[in-house]
Amino acid sequence: MDVSEGKTCFCVSVFCLSEDQQQCGIQVTKQGQHKELSLQASQDGKGVNLVLMDDDKTCVLKVTITSETDCCRVGAQSFLVSKGNISSVLCFRTDSEYQDFQRLLSSWVEPRGECCAFDQRTEGSSALQYFQFYGCISQQQNMLQDYLRTATYQKAILLNELDFRDKIVLDVGCGTGILSFFAVQAGAKRVYAVEASAVAKYAEVLVKSNGLSDKIIVLAGKVEEVTLPEQIDIIISEPIGYMLLNERMLESYLHAKKWLRPKGMMFPTSSDIHLAPFTDEALYMEHYARSGFWQQTCFHGINLSGLHTAAVDEFFKQPIVDTFDWQILMAQSTKYTINFLEAKEEDLHRLDIPFVFKLTQTGLIHGIAFWFDIAFIGTRMTVWLSTAPNQPLTHWYQVRCLLQTPLFAKMGQTLSGRVQLIANKRQSYDIHIVAVIDQSGFKSGNTLDLKNPFFRVPTWLQA
Ligand SMILES: C[S@@+](CC[C@H](N)C(=O)[O-])C[C@H]1O[C@@H](n2cnc3c(N)ncnc32)[C@H](O)[C@@H]1O
Repeated sequence: MDVSEGKTCFCVSVFCLSEDQQQCGIQVTKQGQHKELSLQASQDGKGVNLVLMDDDKTCVLKVTITSETDCCRVGAQSFLVSKGNISSVLCFRTDSEYQDFQRLLSSWVEPRGECCAFDQRTEGSSALQYFQFYGCISQQQNMLQDYLRTATYQKAILLNELDFRDKIVLDVGCGTGILSFFAVQAGAKRVYAVEASAVAKYAEVLVKSNGLSDKIIVLAGKVEEVTLPEQIDIIISEPIGYMLLNERMLESYLHAKKWLRPKGMMFPTSSDIHLAPFTDEALYMEHYARSGFWQQTCFHGINLSGLHTAAVDEFFKQPIVDTFDWQILMAQSTKYTINFLEAKEEDLHRLDIPFVFKLTQTGLIHGIAFWFDIAFIGTRMTVWLSTAPNQPLTHWYQVRCLLQTPLFAKMGQTLSGRVQLIANKRQSYDIHIVAVIDQSGFKSGNTLDLKNPFFRVPTWLQA
């Protein structure tokens, strides 16, 4: 149900049950004898407020329902809520009125004990490590200091200031709050800045010290858990990991659309994952050589070679994070687009990317290279942030996945196959690649673990 369009006013009659401890009994009284009262439901940061009024608009009862409130259904169409030693039974006129009320409540209140979408898809140990990482000021600094990233976000927001002026904004995973500040620079009326890691308290410090407490409201918690008091005009976020998808934060970004008003905007709006075959003999040999250690037959008197195959398998499972000269690419890239306005969280659980590359050079194909671009589609203009190998470097670099066996191919031949990206509970993806040279039938593939990449960036290039 769309809460914005849902019914929030109901007619009820009310009974009060009060415990008389001296008489060890329950007293039942009917509120507003024989009268129906009007029940008004509204929501704010604390929970769902129920206000009961009689004909002359006098408030008869006021109660806030949260996931901790003691309340339940009674019979077919009544609702009981307890506060201290007084319980109130709200009897709805019809069964369907009660259903409407119940739907409203469950869309506004996270049921007690039920874990949120984030917790359902994430192993506890992964989440703990993840939010500890982002809780460090030094990690936030790394991102802020990626000039291309931070400056492009600011440019996209300020060049489209009309989309922000007097608007209600949600910043998903605000970190230090930098994007929220940009939204205010563009004239936003109010920004809800949601952050699940301990850095939320630092965002609050910056909001206060910049004198923006009336504009930016920092909400500590996961975006899947927090409650906003109003609908949002535009959602902003930087939910991007290696190969775009690592961290699975895009799902949190899409989840946040439950607060977006119809026709609301998303910044970024869409993204393209690019992939292309590459040749790099040196990389392949270097990677293979890493497992050479396990070929020793007399390491402190012990033969290690029994683990050589396992070591090769493990190293080849690691996607390589670094950068390269785009001329090693052996074909024009193929792209896979995700439109954040349309995509649902489930769409990111399994991505299937078929490809047919027409090779532009002869040689050995050692693997598939990945990078991504994101687009901010504003009313005034579209701004792109690209992580392509022929563009200035960002802290996302590029990612390369080696094939276990390189494939020889001639210019003009075609390499076809598919990449499947399957989400796992460690906030990452298993990458499955199969590829064949159509003309020769040579086939290769690999399965990689995006959660455990190999960082090959030289120190002087590290962000
Ligand atoms: C890539 S950082 C971006 C930080 C900041 N927006 C910036 O641009 O500098 C992502 C942030 O989102 C937070 N985050 C990730 N998942 C979240 C979730 N489900 N709810 C709230 N915050 C989340 C992380 O803790 C981290 O601080």
